[in-house]
Formats: sequence, structure tokens, C-alpha cells
Amino acid sequence: MVEGVAFNEGTFMPVVEAKISILDPAFTRSDVVYDTATVWKGLFFRLDDHIARFFASCEAMRLTPPHSAEEIKTILAECVERAGLADAYVQFVCTRGPFVDLTNRDPRKCRNGFFAYAIPYIWIISREKQDAGARIAIATNRRIPDSAINQRVKNFNWMDLSRGVIEAFDRNFDHVVLLTPDGLLSEGPGFNAWLIKDGVLKTPKDNCLHGLTRRTVFDMARDLGLKAIETDITQDDLMNADEVFLSTEGGGIMPVGQVETKLYGNGAPGMLTSQLRAEYWRRRESGWMSTAVKSLLKTSAVA
Ligand SMILES: Cc1ncc(COP(=O)(O)O)c(C=O)c1O
Repeated sequence: MVEGVAFNEGTFMPVVEAKISILDPAFTRSDVVYDTATVWKGLFFRLDDHIARFFASCEAMRLTPPHSAEEIKTILAECVERAGLADAYVQFVCTRGPFVDLTNRDPRKCRNGFFAYAIPYIWIISREKQDAGARIAIATNRRIPDSAINQRVKNFNWMDLSRGVIEAFDRNFDHVVLLTPDGLLSEGPGFNAWLIKDGVLKTPKDNCLHGLTRRTVFDMARDLGLKAIETDITQDDLMNADEVFLSTEGGGIMPVGQVETKLYGNGAPGMLTSQLRAEYWRRRESGWMSTAVKSLLKTSAVA
């Protein structure tokens, strides 16, 4: 059973007991936005950025969460504290809420809902596979483009990503990235994709979530004197890269050793990628852009 604590409709409960109505279009239509933050050694990372992105996603989808930013921060901290987790994966979600009138299904009239939960930290790709250099497939199906759903809005329309994962696992790869209908690199299920060519870091500009770990990579590159750009990336660019890595809250900077049949170097993590990965975890443990869970609790001396 998954351990963890959820907050749903004003009540904290074991995460396995949190439920959503089958009449909520969040479930029947993926009419829902969310964000995922993480806690490492008792510290939230870039929490204000996650909250800002969440409210931007809500606004884009005309959803109004029933809690303020400050209330949400306290709720998330409470979930982590009650779950007794030092390292946590913390998700918060704004749902459309059931239709008021089932014969006149008007999303504008729904009372939007909110839930959140904290569970143990998730490594999208295990640390062992990262150490070895992850093996990544390219999905045969394409990623939903920005012209259909603005991928900067963090959304649960994951059928394209899920199909890619199933295919990649069937083929014994560790994970998958998807191309856009135009054949450009987009992202993977829960992570952004990067390549390094001639010392320059490159990541797609469009048709992907602008991940906060992606933003951290730009921050680190600037501080380390490395050039990092957002640009269109073709499959050929990916295959001709010197190094490839993935970025996500759920695993950090994840080195890639292989995409399809292409091995980068000898298939082990590249030098710059390893440097960025070490720097990422150093920053997370140093308190850089961090908020202590305990500082957000209502019962703390700060409150
Ligand atoms: C589709 C997708 N792309 C990229 C990311 C990476 O974003 P972040 O670095 O904010 O975790 C995520 C994270 O959940 C995601 O779901």
C-alpha cells in the first residue's frame, strides 16, 4: 500500500483513502491542472515557483482553486509533516468539479475543487540506472502539440505519454521521449529533454512544459559559465549530440547513455551532465531556493 497523506475537500487522510467523484470532468475529461513539488531532507525546492506555475495553469484553464497561495503552501507542508517524510513527492491538483446541471454541461459553472498529497520521493528513473546512463526510446506516437493543448499548462492529458511509456518498456528501454507531429523533440513523461553539443546545452523551446528543473539547469549553466539555449531540436540533432540528459523534480538531472541504438560516449553519463547532476544535488542540499517544511506549519514558532 502507498504510504502518504492527502488533503481532500478540507480534510487530511491516508493517501489511499482520497477519492474523486466519477462525475467530475477532472476524471471524465482530464479537465484538471496540477503541479508537483518535491521535498529533499526537509526542504521544499523552488516552492514559490511551483505555486506561481500552478496558479498560471489554473488561470489558463479558467479554474479557480478554493485556496490562496499561502493556504496551499501550509496544506502541502502539513501533508509532508503528517506523512512523516523527509524526502517527498508532493502533488497538488485543481479539478473542474462536477457539473451543476448534467443536461447543460457548462464547465464555467462548476465549483472547482482542490486536493494535494505527499508520498515518498519518486525517482522517475532509478539512481542506479542514472549512474549507468539511462537507455531511452523514441515513441512511435507523437506528443500533443501546443496548438492543441498549451504544454506550459501542467495538465493530465497523458495518453500520448502513457502510450510511449508502454511501448518503451515493452522494448526494454528505461524510458521514452516523444517528438512533435513536426518531428521535433518535445519531452517525456514527467521530464524535459536536453542535449549537449560542442559544450552548448540545448532544450526544446515549445511543445513542452517549462519545467522548474529546466529553469534550474539554465540557472546552473549561467553560474558555471556554460551556454544554454532553448531551440528547435530535430531527431538528427539528438542523434548527433555529445551528451543527453533529462530534467525533472522526480529524479533531478538524469543522465542518458543511449537513445534508440545511439550510444553517447561509451554509454555512461557524460562529463558535463555529471557535473550538472552533482551541482543540482549540492544546491538542493545547501538550501538554495529552498523552504523548510517546518517553517510553513501553522503550529511553528514562525506562524
Ligand atoms: C510533461 C512534463 N514535462 C516536464 C516535466 C518536468 O518539470 P519539472 O522540472 O518542473 O518537474 C514534468 C514534470 O512533472 C512533466 O510532467
